[in-house]
Amino acid sequence: MSNHLKNLKLKIWRQDGPNTSGRFEDYIIDEISDEASFLEMLDVLNERLISDNKLPVVFDHDCREGICGTCSLMINGQAHGPERRTATCQLHMRKFKSGDEIVIEPWRASAFPIIKDLMVDRSAFDRIIESGGFITAPTGGAPDANLIPIPKPVADAAMDSAECIGCGACVAACPNGAANLFTAAKINHLNVLPQGQAERYKRVEAMVETMDEYFGSCTNHGECEAACPKEISIDVIALMNKDYRKSKVKNRKELSRG
Ligand code: FES
Repeated sequence: MSNHLKNLKLKIWRQDGPNTSGRFEDYIIDEISDEASFLEMLDVLNERLISDNKLPVVFDHDCREGICGTCSLMINGQAHGPERRTATCQLHMRKFKSGDEIVIEPWRASAFPIIKDLMVDRSAFDRIIESGGFITAPTGGAPDANLIPIPKPVADAAMDSAECIGCGACVAACPNGAANLFTAAKINHLNVLPQGQAERYKRVEAMVETMDEYFGSCTNHGECEAACPKEISIDVIALMNKDYRKSKVKNRKELSRG
């Protein structure tokens, strides 16, 4: 049976554009079902703002199923809010109670400049992927799944990394604004598979060095793992660091072979 939450006090970051200063604005949600998702609660607020001839709150969202990684809110100081392994779009209002104050901010990281209100520019992630997060070897049409034998632990490790939805919570939660968890997941899901071996060391060198251009350095706080809605383990960072060190020898050898 659904209950209704009353008198929610929202403190929302409003910012007109990337080069203007922002401020918190206060809103009240008088009544909302605890079955509503967090984003549906914001939809209700926006409908009210629009009918009052005010500008709605801009926030990112797409699939609303925890798949696309588009939603990105800092809720009461926690990336994606109070529930572990949950993206903002899958967070429900039953996690809150009547009379709660909810502070809603965009991701805070210098590599993710604010576009407007709660929406940030995460294209620095795209630069990392462009530098090596793909396979260029011609593989032809999609082969039958069982044609390339891959041991189960390897397939599982690749899938664990491939769960990364690229939301950026790891960066927002990290005190250094580091993107090591994201980059390591994107490297690892290719580097552990046979199809990823041909470019393994070129990939890791390029992606780590592109990451370093945009993001802060990892000092093993582990906040990224705690904030990740897919619970990607920081073990992937150790694997990335190991491959990066090896890449410095292997890539040099390849260059000297011409
Ligand atoms: S909107 Fe797609 S993961 Fe949240």
